[in-house]
Amino acid sequence: MRKLFAGMMVCMLMLALTACGNAEDNHSEELSHSAQSTTEKPAAEAEREPENELGTEESTSSEGALETDSKPETEGIVKELVVYFSWSGNTQSVATEIQNQTGADEFRLMPAEPYTDDYDALLDIAQEEQRSGARPEISDSIENFENYEVIYLGFPNWWGDMPMILYSFLDDYDLSGKTIIPFVTSGGSGFSDTISTIKSMEPDAEVLDGLSLGSSQAAEPASAVTDWLNGLAE
Ligand SMILES: Cc1cc2nc3c(=O)[nH]c(=O)nc-3n(C[C@H](O)[C@H](O)[C@H](O)COP(=O)(O)O)c2cc1C
Repeated sequence: MRKLFAGMMVCMLMLALTACGNAEDNHSEELSHSAQSTTEKPAAEAEREPENELGTEESTSSEGALETDSKPETEGIVKELVVYFSWSGNTQSVATEIQNQTGADEFRLMPAEPYTDDYDALLDIAQEEQRSGARPEISDSIENFENYEVIYLGFPNWWGDMPMILYSFLDDYDLSGKTIIPFVTSGGSGFSDTISTIKSMEPDAEVLDGLSLGSSQAAEPASAVTDWLNGLAE
C-alpha cells in the first residue's frame, strides 16, 4: 500500500514538472516576441526615415529647421527689381501687384524736390521739365543695383512721354546686360513712343513687351498682371 502511494506521488510530481516546462516555453516565446517589437519600427515610422529627397544626410537644428548638405535654394534665382515713379498712385498700385506676384524687390523713384499736389500746376511743371530736358534728382539710391538682372520699369504717361525722373534713372544707372520690362498707366495714350526711347537710351539692355493699363484699370490690376506675366514666361 505504501509502495502504491509512493508510486502515485512520483507520477504526480512528474506530471507537475512537465506542465511547468510547457508554461515556461510559452512565456519565453512571448518574451522573444516583445523584444522583437521594441527593435522593429512601425511601418509609418520606418517610412519617415532616413533619406530625404536629395539622398543627402540631414539633421534637425535646435530650432527644428531642416538642414541639408545641399546648396542654398536661392542659388541660381534671377534677382528682379520693380522700379517705378507714381504721382497719384495708379502706377504704384500696378507696381505693388507685380512685386506681390513675382517676389521682386521694389524701389519707388521719388524726386529730391517733391512735386506739387496741385494737378493743374503739375501739368505745367511737367511740360516745362520736358521742354528743358530736366533731370530731376532722385532722392535715394538703389543698393547693389548691379546684382539685379530684371528691371520692371513703371511710370505714368506724362504729355506723351515718361516723366523726366525716369530719364534721370536711366542716365544714373547702368542697365547694360539687364532685361527691362516696362509698364505704364495713362489716361488712354498708353506707351506713346516711350518704348523706343528706352531702347535708344539703353541699347545694351533687352526690352521686353510692356504692360499698359488705363488709370481706372490700375485700381484692380491683379488679373491683367497675371495674364501679362504668364505671357512673358511663354
Ligand atoms: C502731368 C501729367 C500729364 C499727363 N499726360 C497724359 C497724356 O499725355 N496722356 C494720357 O493718356 N494721360 C496723361 N496723364 C494722365 C496719367 O498718365 C494717368 O492719370 C496716370 O495713371 C497717372 O499715374 P500715377 O497715378 O501713377 O501718377 C497725365 C497726367 C499728368 C499728371
